[in-house]
Amino acid sequence: MRPRRRHGLALLVLLAGCGEAGSPAAPSPTPTPALDLEPLRAAARASGRRVGAAVQAGLLRAGPDYAAVAARHFDHVTAEFEMKWGPIERQPGQRSYEAADEIVAFAEAHGMGVKGHALVWHGDSPAWLEGLSIPELRIALEDHIRTTVGRYRGRVFAWDVVNEAIADGRPGLRDTLFLRRLGPGYVAEAFRLAREADPDVLLVYNDYGGEGLGRKSDDVYDLVRGLVEEGAPIGGVGLQMHLDAAGYPSAADIASNMRRLAALGLLVNVSEMDVRVARLPAEGRLEAQRRVYHDVVAVCLAEPGCHAVTFWGFTDRHSWIDSFFGPDDPLLFDESLRAKPAFFGVRDALEGR
Ligand code: G3I
Repeated sequence: MRPRRRHGLALLVLLAGCGEAGSPAAPSPTPTPALDLEPLRAAARASGRRVGAAVQAGLLRAGPDYAAVAARHFDHVTAEFEMKWGPIERQPGQRSYEAADEIVAFAEAHGMGVKGHALVWHGDSPAWLEGLSIPELRIALEDHIRTTVGRYRGRVFAWDVVNEAIADGRPGLRDTLFLRRLGPGYVAEAFRLAREADPDVLLVYNDYGGEGLGRKSDDVYDLVRGLVEEGAPIGGVGLQMHLDAAGYPSAADIASNMRRLAALGLLVNVSEMDVRVARLPAEGRLEAQRRVYHDVVAVCLAEPGCHAVTFWGFTDRHSWIDSFFGPDDPLLFDESLRAKPAFFGVRDALEGR
């Protein structure tokens, strides 16, 4: 946990009142505790959308306030890492679902849905996969997907089946163990295995860097169009939306991308949203962040094909951003679980303002 910064509160108070000229319902002049605010999930329900957040079992266990805020404001959760292959099966055949079960139980106890994340991802797979032959890897993948999807059948509303299979910086599929050993067909195969294990769950392809329009966005589109055309049981696409307020895709491009994906018959969701601000001057960064959150959620509400928004965490106290990009404040609530302008941006967008 990072030491709390004194200037943060002063900055928050200074900027909290800086709504856009004419913007409705500017945030309250002092940071309001999350538990004192009307639930975001109520505004989302009224809008016909889901609103959720990534959580960690250890954080749910450790801090009652963290769990209480998650339960109050979100209608679904996703496991930030506990439902991935790496944490589940550290040794071949020795599966541990305890932490994942904790998250599912928490969700069910609070009337929340669960979005499963992620069955096949090079970014968090067991190390022992490297030593497998091609037939052994195929069997390991089948066993993992069948066992994991089967375990949560009827208890999750969606699965991120394949995560981040498109390459960065060049066209085509990312060079992963799965591609090298199983060929490009591994993507469709993973979807078919998941469908065999659960006939009803929404099966999603999830990626980053293709939220607006451009080469990677086109590659994601081509990949999922190919899956649809070959009859793979894909039902949705997740646009991760890990954005930097210093430069991000235009709302118009995000809308166009959502529209073309929906035209394939796919549901679209904003799957892992956070908005980095550290590269902006301190003064005005929280207002800029509010605007980004507002505008992306507003695009989702304007696009019939967009059915859900999930934030990648919800308090600046815990974000992957700090260790990956450096200290930042990317989420809706500050380190003391008080609402930032970003929260009000999301609320206003969910309420159609
Ligand atoms: O909580 C334990 C801690 O108890 C332990 O001491 C420590 C050292 O082993 O590990 C801690 O768990 C770590 C966890 O993050 C919480 O910090 C895991 O090792 C670490 O693997 C995990 O990293 C996650 C990463 O995916 C890999 O699964 C991040 O939280 C998570 O934010 C990140 O999320 C990904 C999405 O799945 C896909 N899109 C990109 C996104 C960011 O990389």
